[in-house]
Amino acid sequence: MRLKPDNILSLPARPVPYAVLGSPINHSLSPVMQQAAFDQLGLEARYFRIEVDEEGLAKAVTRLRQVPFGGWNCTVPNKVKMVELCDRRAESAEQFGAVNTVTNEKGVLVGHNTDGTGWSRAMREAFGRGPDEMRIVLLGSGGAGRAIATQAILEKCPELVVANRNPARARDMLAHLNAQFADGPLARTAQNLRMIRWEDEALEKALREADVVVNATSAGLDPKAAPVLQARMIPGNLLVFDSVYGAGCAKFRQEVETAGATWSDGLGMLLHQGAAAFSLWTGQTAPVEIMRRALLSNLPVPTK
Ligand SMILES: NC(=O)c1ccc[n+]([C@@H]2O[C@H](COP(=O)([O-])OP(=O)(O)OC[C@H]3O[C@@H](n4cnc5c(N)ncnc54)[C@H](OP(=O)(O)O)[C@@H]3O)[C@@H](O)[C@H]2O)c1
Repeated sequence: MRLKPDNILSLPARPVPYAVLGSPINHSLSPVMQQAAFDQLGLEARYFRIEVDEEGLAKAVTRLRQVPFGGWNCTVPNKVKMVELCDRRAESAEQFGAVNTVTNEKGVLVGHNTDGTGWSRAMREAFGRGPDEMRIVLLGSGGAGRAIATQAILEKCPELVVANRNPARARDMLAHLNAQFADGPLARTAQNLRMIRWEDEALEKALREADVVVNATSAGLDPKAAPVLQARMIPGNLLVFDSVYGAGCAKFRQEVETAGATWSDGLGMLLHQGAAAFSLWTGQTAPVEIMRRALLSNLPVPTK
């Protein structure tokens, strides 16, 4: 259910309100997924979508505290701004420099990030192995790209190669990761964390030497944009994980299938970050299959 920021204060404290905060927010599938989970476990809770951007976020959070909300998710463009609006940050929020889940612990707002573990679980579910066993080519260095790269390093992936259309952004991300993981067992070398140019030849070479390519670009959301990779560039034995789901991944999926490679969309990532958020709020195991069914039956366009 959609809720305007101005109406937050008119909500009763029961059923306990939860929400996803973002802009645009109409397309978000979090409400159907989370409401299905609350209903399945018989919890008296109501999950809303609230259209709010970075500018309005602080005011909205003040209101969410007053009702009070049980917790909320943040999506584009609010994940970074939410870090400073929390009273405390869990280790995951510090590691990712972004918050996608807030728990309200007796008035203390605690920021968490479940995007990385959500991606990792989805990879294991789709391909039967995780980032620790995979040489990864990562396309994209935006919010999702950063979360995936961080999780890959936390799980000691043997090789991470990054390409981004705008090379400055990839360079920034690598500098940040190298600083964050400068010492200790997770420290990276120029060999196992590097960037390549966003050019066919460099990409093709990297893909031949990889186990999986992860698409963390938003190219699929632009109907006019070409697929991020053409079929001729994709080795048939490659695993392909697209963080996009629904209609946005159709063109890329077509290229991957033409190449004969193994493809997974990003629905599992959405599902598992949501399931982890649900457990943080309720302390209960999330009914993952109920949540998955809710997602699949509410997708605008069928997907795998
Ligand atoms: N499944 C999930 O749970 C989940 C979670 C989060 C995000 N996502 C998906 O991940 C994607 C990225 O999200 P985000 O939050 O990282 O967005 P973002 O911060 O805006 O970053 C967008 C990224 O896409 C690249 N890009 C955009 N258009 C492109 C094109 N035509 N060709 C090549 N690269 C292009 C950008 O490259 P430049 O730097 O060159 O502009 C940048 O790396 C979105 O499609 C989103 O739906 C899925």
